Amino acid sequence: MSEPNIELINKRRIFGIISHPDAGKTTLTEKLLFHGGAIHEAGTVKAVKNSKFARSDWMEIEKQRGISVTSSVMQFEYEDKVVSIMDTPGHNDFGEDTYRILTSVDSAVMVIDAAKGVEAQTKKLFKVCSMRKIPVFTFINKLDRQAEDPLDLMEDLEEALGLPSVSVTWPIGSGQLFEGIYDRIENKVHLYKKDKTVKLGEKGVFGSELEGVLSEENLKNLRNEIELLDGAGNEFDMSLISSGKLSPVFFGTALVDFGVTVFLEHFLRMSPSPGARKTTTGEVNPTDDFFSGFIFKIQANMNPAHRDRLAFLRICSGKFERGMNVTLSRTGKILKLNQSTQLMANEREIVDEAFAGDIIGIYDSGNYQIGDTLTTRKEPLFFEPLPTFPPELFMRVRPVNTMKAKHFQKGVDQLAQEGAIQIYKNEFNEVILGAVGALQFEVFEYRLKNEYNSEIRMESLNFSVARWVSTDKPDSLRDFQNSRCSLVFDHYDRPVLLFANQYTLDNFIERNKDIKLVEALDVQKRF
Ligand code: G4P
Repeated sequence: MSEPNIELINKRRIFGIISHPDAGKTTLTEKLLFHGGAIHEAGTVKAVKNSKFARSDWMEIEKQRGISVTSSVMQFEYEDKVVSIMDTPGHNDFGEDTYRILTSVDSAVMVIDAAKGVEAQTKKLFKVCSMRKIPVFTFINKLDRQAEDPLDLMEDLEEALGLPSVSVTWPIGSGQLFEGIYDRIENKVHLYKKDKTVKLGEKGVFGSELEGVLSEENLKNLRNEIELLDGAGNEFDMSLISSGKLSPVFFGTALVDFGVTVFLEHFLRMSPSPGARKTTTGEVNPTDDFFSGFIFKIQANMNPAHRDRLAFLRICSGKFERGMNVTLSRTGKILKLNQSTQLMANEREIVDEAFAGDIIGIYDSGNYQIGDTLTTRKEPLFFEPLPTFPPELFMRVRPVNTMKAKHFQKGVDQLAQEGAIQIYKNEFNEVILGAVGALQFEVFEYRLKNEYNSEIRMESLNFSVARWVSTDKPDSLRDFQNSRCSLVFDHYDRPVLLFANQYTLDNFIERNKDIKLVEALDVQKRF
């Protein structure tokens, strides 16, 4: 690949922001976009007022600025970097998409509420990041409010996530007493609300520069904490950070926009540019000459007037040029990526060329499935399959009109292939749906009705945990069935046990030590 193209790739950063709802993911994203010039102040004010960004709010922001992206990818430039933030839907539209987006990014930013520490949804999302060994950067937010002790927050990361951390910035007080952050790498203190930075001398916080600037109490605490961190904290180690084994931690308040640019600048320096990706036959490098990419999300009904779907493609190598021919590895079919290729339904956002590390949207009339590889390479190429994610909600589903069973079955099969939802069958051949978020059921029902002309009836089941079972005798598993445990088969006919809750599962494990259960995330690896 030519030099200028390598330069383009090295400038790119793609990351996902993960958090528990309300920790401040949207507020931080918005501030980052603002600093990147992607939204104007007026947009910010409006957005803050709206506060709860539904998808349409993002569209609104996009319209104002014409950000070259879909509602799920936001791109901006900062200094010499081209930055793409992948929105990971939270709140009500949390679903498998949220997880899958993390399979396409090169790093993640984890936002944590300083008063709450690590929360449930952060744990789930972090698990996907750690499985992929991508670097995770932590932004501890809401320091303008009373916060937990920062040392406890760092300990929480280690305990709740098993993630060692190293602080890059450190808070000076919190809430009413919040006075700023200390940048340990730059040896500077940024003062809160004073718009001033104090450059420290060789002695760092132990020198005289901060005396009379910070309150006595805060300075005393800061010195004690930094002494502890310098003595007993983890050392800053770029190789551990790059392999996702050490998280650089930053403190600030997204709402007040304090600590955000300090974070952004360090983040852009430390986070990786697009790297190599595993395939079933070795690695593909972003600098390889042939074009390759994989589909990690398919969004249906972007335009209700058409049955179009938009497939999101992460480019892994080579150059994309509009109108090029590529092979869809799964079928061997040659497809032309024609004018259909654009990121938004807005003319200037048609993409003529793109490189490794870019995410593009391609219109799909039904050719693609989640996990598909597209390439110009002559020899077959398959990126590693995307993992299956642990469903927590289950429904039994049947067609209202049994005469239309064929439509129903066709819809079920196609939506399962598309990865919209997980589909199982029980021993009576009934269809059981498994989802990560409730919205997936609604979308399923809507699409079956609108695209397959099949009305359905859904009935919620009292299960919340699924485990694949590694066994030669799946039939023997029938004996375990009761109201709190049920046997179903996934679409590869692999046996899966559904449990009412973690407690039922723990009991089962205790009583059946010889039965090997596998978590969804590990299914691909172990079977
Ligand atoms: P999410 O995307 O992670 O769900 O969180 P979001 O950014 O929507 O923020 C959730 C709430 O937390 C919002 O308040 C937001 O204003 C507030 N928030 C975000 N960052 C900070 C911060 O640094 N400090 C403080 N004090 N609050 C912060 P809300 O009550 O839901 O909305 P609003 O009524 O304040 O607009």
